[in-house]
Amino acid sequence: MRVLVTGGAGFIGSHLCDALLGEGHSVLCADSLLTGRMANLAHLGNEPRFEFVRQDICQPFDPGKIDYLFHFASPASPVDYLKHGIETLRVGSLGTMNCLELAARYNAKYLLASTSECYGDPLEHPQKESYWGNVNPIGPRSVYDESKRFAEAVTMAYHRYRKVDTRIVRIFNTYGPRLQINDGRVISNFMKQALLGQDLTVYGDGSQTRSFCYVSDEVAGILALAKSDEHGPTNIGNPGEFTVLECAQVVLEVTGSNSKLRFDPLPQDDPKQRRPDIGKAKKLLGWEPKIDLRAGLRMSLEYFRTAVDAAGNCI
Ligand SMILES: NC(=O)c1ccc[n+]([C@@H]2O[C@H](COP(=O)([O-])OP(=O)(O)OC[C@H]3O[C@@H](n4cnc5c(N)ncnc54)[C@H](O)[C@@H]3O)[C@@H](O)[C@H]2O)c1
Repeated sequence: MRVLVTGGAGFIGSHLCDALLGEGHSVLCADSLLTGRMANLAHLGNEPRFEFVRQDICQPFDPGKIDYLFHFASPASPVDYLKHGIETLRVGSLGTMNCLELAARYNAKYLLASTSECYGDPLEHPQKESYWGNVNPIGPRSVYDESKRFAEAVTMAYHRYRKVDTRIVRIFNTYGPRLQINDGRVISNFMKQALLGQDLTVYGDGSQTRSFCYVSDEVAGILALAKSDEHGPTNIGNPGEFTVLECAQVVLEVTGSNSKLRFDPLPQDDPKQRRPDIGKAKKLLGWEPKIDLRAGLRMSLEYFRTAVDAAGNCI
């Protein structure tokens, strides 16, 4: 197949490009490099089945005939979407509609990267796909949450009205090599601070929970969904739940760091609990994650060391 990956220069998108190439497909990556980096694709420089085009997908564009479109373009980390609020809303709305138009034009299959943020600060725990969420539509984080909720709505509309063969993955917190070290999320913050010997910043009292999925597990789940005929949203994440304090302990253990903890106030609308119910993915796709947090952090350690060294005084 000829596959278009929007956002393929980003963290998850670049791993997805690798996996698709690994399955024998040709991959075209369209990315504006708003938050992504060519360094994530550097190893594909001599790969004849890989093409890169620098493209803001909010502008209409025509990549030629494609068989599958994976729509991953969007600022994703709180640091990025709070900095690029309007761009985030644009790519979720205009960008998503452009992608769906392409899928309709070429009769291509389509998969949207959505997010657990659609559940907001959930009142139901763990979150099943049937839960409609508890989202503040006008708070600072709404630029991301509502962008993705609109992206899901318009994806379902193209499926219903235009018969586009769509899928929606709700991705939960993912980590691994190529994660931006300054993305403001728990793993990157803690790994960076631990490796630099700085205090680990814990927001609130650290009792809020998170679940973390290693990137190869996430991509395996996404590809399994891509091959299925399921059109409704499907959670792909790791249900292993850690308090932020427990996560700090694992990071200190894996890095061998003597850093201490520092407690800062909780940001607005920070979710208290986040854990996927992956019953649907298990039953439908026979998928579940294999790599636990300790193992995943060990596999990411070399990347974080190199990234922290390369960033030097810039962080
Ligand atoms: N990383 C996670 O834990 C996580 C969790 C839930 C959902 N997701 C979703 O997965 C996708 C990828 O996330 P990521 O963590 O790899 O983020 P990332 O920031 O590393 O990658 C996003 C990519 O999209 C590109 N992009 C942004 N706006 C664009 C535009 N208008 N046109 C073209 N390219 C554009 C960026 O340059 C970047 O390369 C996003 O859609 C995100 O919402 C990620």
